[in-house]
Amino acid sequence: MLAAIGYSGLAGHKLLHQEFRQMLRDLLDEARRLTLDEIADCIEDLINGWFYQHILTVDADYVDAVKASRKPPVPGA
Ligand SMILES: [Fe+2]
Repeated sequence: MLAAIGYSGLAGHKLLHQEFRQMLRDLLDEARRLTLDEIADCIEDLINGWFYQHILTVDADYVDAVKASRKPPVPGA
């Protein structure tokens, strides 16, 4: 969708998602050495940190671009 509307921040956004996937892979690797409580704490940190922050700030950044792409053309413009 973002590519279809020509969103200028797409490359940077994809990079952030790649970093998040790496954080998850790191957590999976580390989880073998952690207790369940420690794993739960790590997951909570991911949700309250990266995930929550990402949705509220980074994802919100493209909302205007998506809305603008859906506006019908103005007659005579
Ligand atoms: Fe995102």
